[in-house]
Amino acid sequence: MSWIQRRRSETYYRRAKTEGYRSRAIYKLKQMDEKFSLIGNGMRILDLGAAPGGWSQYSSMVNEEGLNVAMDLVPMRRIENVYFVKGDIFEDNIWTKVLELSPDGFDLVLSDILMHTSGDRSRDQANSYFIAKRVLEICEHVLARNGKTLIKTLQGDLTEEMRREFKKHFRRVFLTKPSSSLPRSPELYILGEYYSGHSPSP
Ligand SMILES: C[S@@+](CC[C@H](N)C(=O)[O-])C[C@H]1O[C@@H](n2cnc3c(N)ncnc32)[C@H](O)[C@@H]1O
Repeated sequence: MSWIQRRRSETYYRRAKTEGYRSRAIYKLKQMDEKFSLIGNGMRILDLGAAPGGWSQYSSMVNEEGLNVAMDLVPMRRIENVYFVKGDIFEDNIWTKVLELSPDGFDLVLSDILMHTSGDRSRDQANSYFIAKRVLEICEHVLARNGKTLIKTLQGDLTEEMRREFKKHFRRVFLTKPSSSLPRSPELYILGEYYSGHSPSP
């Protein structure tokens, strides 16, 4: 990481600390929300890979009258108005755990999950593709018709393939990179809007 990138990362990190947020990731979601109007008050939101909780903090503030469900492999300190479910997205039938909290599914599924990066670009990209595909599979069980999903991925050879995959399920698809994401990082978010799948079911 260059010193400019490090400085930028530290600036968001310090800002998050000063403002009482759990991670600098909160600014990424906030910027994407400002651009795409992702979150409205009264929604049912599922945040996958939620710890330490920046995104869930943001969702719980904007969606204060709605349902906010967070899931992660590791425990997360409590956030008011957020239900935490400990779980691995690759567990069999993991969707049943969250459908207990919202039997009719969710309006928005977020995923900020990334496996540990190995430094091997194509391997890291393949892993992020694999995660995004799994999140899409979870969406097939939990996302309400016309719902949205926002998934973190790594830009590379498989990006176009992933966009095509999204196009099969969503009427509108966007690739986006918030300004708080470091410019040289291959991190990229894919947003699908107007889900055309079936009604949620276990
Ligand atoms: C970049 S962090 C998320 C940061 C979060 N969005 C925030 O705002 O604080 C990625 C998270 O994904 C979680 N994770 C990784 N693999 C996972 C899996 N298979 N199932 C569930 N969570 C996973 C990690 O434990 C980690 O907490």
